[in-house]
Order: sequence, then C-alpha cells, then structure tokens
Amino acid sequence: MVNAMSVTSTSSCEATLPAEGAEYTVGSMFAGIGGICIAFKNAGADVIWANELDKFACMTYRKNLGSDYLVEGDIKDLDVNTVPNVDILTAGFPCQAFSIAGYKKGFRDERGALFFEILRIMDEKHPRVVFLENVKNLVGHDNGQTFENILRCLKDRGYFAYHQVLNTMEYGDIPQNRERTYIVAFKDKRDAEKFSFPEAVPLTKSIRDIIDASSQKDELFYYKKDWLHYGELKKIMKNENTVYQWRRTYVRENKSDVCPTLTANMGTGGHNVPLIIDDFGYRKLTPSECLKFQGFPSDFRFPDISNGNMYKQAGNSVSVPVVQRIAENILDVMKKTDSGM
Ligand SMILES: C[S@@+](CC[C@H](N)C(=O)[O-])C[C@H]1O[C@@H](n2cnc3c(N)ncnc32)[C@H](O)[C@@H]1O
Repeated sequence: MVNAMSVTSTSSCEATLPAEGAEYTVGSMFAGIGGICIAFKNAGADVIWANELDKFACMTYRKNLGSDYLVEGDIKDLDVNTVPNVDILTAGFPCQAFSIAGYKKGFRDERGALFFEILRIMDEKHPRVVFLENVKNLVGHDNGQTFENILRCLKDRGYFAYHQVLNTMEYGDIPQNRERTYIVAFKDKRDAEKFSFPEAVPLTKSIRDIIDASSQKDELFYYKKDWLHYGELKKIMKNENTVYQWRRTYVRENKSDVCPTLTANMGTGGHNVPLIIDDFGYRKLTPSECLKFQGFPSDFRFPDISNGNMYKQAGNSVSVPVVQRIAENILDVMKKTDSGM
C-alpha cells in the first residue's frame, strides 16, 4: 500500500511555488510531470496530493514541484485514508484505450479501466469539483457509448458535468494543434450554473516564437548527411515555419506555423518525431522545446533521464495555459458561490 506519508521531500520547488493563501485544495490523479498541477497552482489553488506510477515522471515532478505530497505508486494501491480530502479532484487519465492511434478497447483495456479508480476516489472523498482531461476521441469512442457511460457515472453521483473539446492553438495562445476533451463536473448546482469554458483567444505566437533557430543544439538532435533518408528531409523540408513529422519512412508536412499534436511515442521507434529546419540543419525538436509547445514555465527542468523518457513525458502531458484558463473559471465560480453571489 502506498501512502502520502511514506514520501519524503528531496528537492526544492523550482518552477512553481505553492499558491500563497490559496483557498481551494487539489488532489491530482495520474499526475505525470505535473502539467495539470502547475495549471491549477497558477490559477491560485493549492495542490495537496498527487499520485503517479511512473518513476521517471515522478522524478521530473519532484524536481519542479517539490515532493512532500507526491505519492509514487499504482493508483489501484492508493489507500484513500492516507490522502486528505480536496475541493477539486483532477485526472488526466491514461488515453491509449480511447485514442485513435491505439486499439481502442476502452474500458475493456486495463488502462481504460483506470477511469473506475477516479470513481473510487470520488466515492470516498466527495470532491466539490472534478476536472478530467483526455484525447478528443474519448467523445466518439465506441459510437459515443464510452462517453455516455462516463457522463452517466458522474450524474449518478449527483454531479453536473460540462464537456468541451478545446484546441491548444485556439484556447492557449500556443502554436500546437492539440485537441483534447475536457470535462468539468460540479457537485454543487450553484457552481455548475455559473460555469462556462473559456472563450477562444487569437493565436499570437508562431513556431519561431517557440524555437530559437539561431542557437545550435546538441549534435544528437541533427540528422547527418549520410543518413539513409536525408534526401527525403531535404526534398520536403523547405518551410522554416512548419514542424514536420517523421512517420517511419517518410516526412509529413503539417500546417504552417503550428506544431502537430505532440505524442507520447514521439521519442521512440522513429515514429511521429517532430522535425524542423534551423540555421544549422534538419533536426528533431528537443524535449525542452516540446515542453514549450505545451506552454510549460520557462524554468521547468528535466532531471537526468533518457531523451526517450523526456519526449514521452512532454507528449503525455497537457497544454498548461489551456488547463489554467479552465482552472481559473472553476475557481472563479467556487469563489462566487462561497461569497453568496
Ligand atoms: C496522460 S498521462 C497524464 C499526464 C499529466 N496530466 C501531466 O500533466 O503530465 C497519464 C499518466 O498516468 C500514469 N499512470 C498510468 N497508469 C497508472 C496507474 N495504474 N497508477 C498511477 N498512475 C498511472 C502514467 O504513468 C502517466 O503519467
């Protein structure tokens, strides 16, 4: 059994300080490297527990957000009595079972069934608000049956749920084409009645605002002239304002001025690797650039882990500014309800 008490602090908080005087508390399931936690902290909430299984993701989380409350271990083993009650429960739950790219077995997949762990924690902790994030395809999975089930589970527990698919490039002012399903569920009808998702905002940043093309990166990110497919890169990669993608045997050109959806597998097996041209040649995006395309704070740092793990963590995470805008709206309605408005 893992519990919050068994985890000790080993590093300082480098990227984000706990919100001072924060009124509302957050518990974070499937916390990854803490994208959702950073967004809620930035919005003014206090994250008081988080759980994550992957030890490398935990290392990154601890390096940047401190570690006194992170419970490392399988959520199925989490004893709810060892973590405090929270106002807001968040979960960017594993998406492979619902993703177009996966086998789409949904709740029949062990990873999809982790959704029921969210219900287990809800049933014990009765959070006032639940925030969920997953792939766009969650809504259409199994002809909409999966999503209907999720909404029914929330409704049966007395929650009022809203959902919307938001694209990072339309809602986060970050040039990444990333559509994700967001669900916000309220136990208190007064909160629910006041809530709305954020409005779209104009995209003011381009790829060149995220990437510094004039600074040379480590040579491991560049393709060598004698590489088997170098000719293909040279033929296709002409536009400096496009992030291309290596798709096993060919280069895919994406929409100009935005990065395609960053994925967890982009650093492994030569698939989905995001590519750009800079002043020094054809290269992969670095893991830190991938974090920038997710809107992470500029002082966020990876620990000493493999590049494959860093790419996976960045692709698995969330677009911080989009989640932050939703979190701000959630906190706003809670405050209004509590002040009698
Ligand atoms: C989509 S990612 C969430 C990323 C997170 N929202 C962030 O901002 O970085 C899902 C996470 O669930 C974790 N996970 C998968 N199975 C788990 C389990 N049984 N218990 C706890 N965490 C698990 C994965 O390691 C992964 O980091």
